[in-house]
Amino acid sequence: MDRIRVVGGRPLNGTIRISGAKNAALPLMIASLLTDEALTLENVPRLADVNMLVRILGNHGVDYTLKGKRPGEEIQSGQTVDLRAERIVDTTAPYDLVSRMRASFWVIAPLLARMGECRVSLPGGCAIGTRPVDFLLMALERLGATIGIENGYAIARAPSGGLRGAEISFPKVTVGGTHTALMAAALADGRTTVLNAAREPEIVDLADCLNKMGARITGAGTSTIEIQGVARLHGARHAVLPDRIEAGTYAMAVAMTGGDVLLEGARADLLCGATEALEQAGAKLDGSAEGLRVRRNGNGIRPVDISTAPFPGFPTDLQAQFMALMTRASGSSRITETIFENRFMHVGELSRFGAKIRLDGDAAIVDGVPKLQGAPVMATDLRASVSLVIAALAAEGETTVNRVYHLDRGFEHLEHKLGQCGAIVERISGHG
Ligand code: EPZ
Repeated sequence: MDRIRVVGGRPLNGTIRISGAKNAALPLMIASLLTDEALTLENVPRLADVNMLVRILGNHGVDYTLKGKRPGEEIQSGQTVDLRAERIVDTTAPYDLVSRMRASFWVIAPLLARMGECRVSLPGGCAIGTRPVDFLLMALERLGATIGIENGYAIARAPSGGLRGAEISFPKVTVGGTHTALMAAALADGRTTVLNAAREPEIVDLADCLNKMGARITGAGTSTIEIQGVARLHGARHAVLPDRIEAGTYAMAVAMTGGDVLLEGARADLLCGATEALEQAGAKLDGSAEGLRVRRNGNGIRPVDISTAPFPGFPTDLQAQFMALMTRASGSSRITETIFENRFMHVGELSRFGAKIRLDGDAAIVDGVPKLQGAPVMATDLRASVSLVIAALAAEGETTVNRVYHLDRGFEHLEHKLGQCGAIVERISGHG
């Protein structure tokens, strides 16, 4: 198992190219199941989760082609891939694949819409909470599907005439639920209205791509989305939007270490709540056509209270990273997690650096300390693991982050990107 070794105490200066968004790429890839023609996706990040989804889609019959690149070029620009589901050969998504990556449960929508029936393993819980799929199943039922649970699998069947447009009202904002509704309703007969839809940029990206494939979706990015179903979708070409969570993570790393970094390709408008919190903490952010420049020079880190919320609020996927930043603030901050019930697994590991954090229900109270010290640590999930890297960058001495496979699920070329800005970060291959 690989580990990452970090020697802390150096500011970050330079340029970091922001990759395509993992959480946009995954539903876009899944959307390839909706058509027998090729979906070409540009700017796909090179991540373990993308590779895993290629395997899962391959099991259903999706042909995957990586377009040619000159050596080294992919580091700059992401990969271009063709996904073609000319024939769906299997409508079962088995447990051993779905349990490795929750988002793969979303194949239920295109498989059901295109094939009329499917059998998809329930994903189970994960390190950040129970994460049920009841809203996703409810959305499909609203479109006329019958769903049964048998032996850990959701067995979904469309009515004989196919899915029918309907009103879907989510009791709580759900990204996966909204993706599912969009993909299923795109091929349903008639009009679907999604109420209390997620407004995340990744939803807009999926809707844009589906529209390029011939869908008729309006209102994505607002809480009411209208979908006029069409009989079939066709191939398209689409570039994955830049990863706002990766950009926010590096912005927090710069705020932590001090320095001046251009996050090339990052979009300030996608960061919303996080931008505000970073500025209050003492970082300076300037958006331009090139990207987002992040600086913190001279002044210290100020404590800021945040509460996670659906877009455009402070993203739960940046909560752990912001907590790492707050461990060095000149005072006390309160970090409230409202999306997932168990997303504080990093607290214990951050304490190993000498951070002072205590839990109070759905909140963590962080008392900033003047210095952190390097330590061996281990991550429990993707965003938690990168919060440990942020702490390590500012800590005195050496840190080893174990279980790096979590990082590889969602951060492309992390060592390279931080290394070229002056950090000492290296991967140690072998058993951890
Ligand atoms: C997506 O997960 C992201 N994953 C998550 O990123 C992200 O943290 C989350 O949205 C919130 O922004 C991908 O895009 C692949 P939800 P998703 O449905 O869709 C509850 C990362 O690190 N809920 O918006 O699964 C749920 O438990 C990952 O990249 C139900 O109760 O999240 C949570 O409390 C982690 N029933 C809330 O809704 C349901 O049927 C929001 O979850 C569905 C969700």
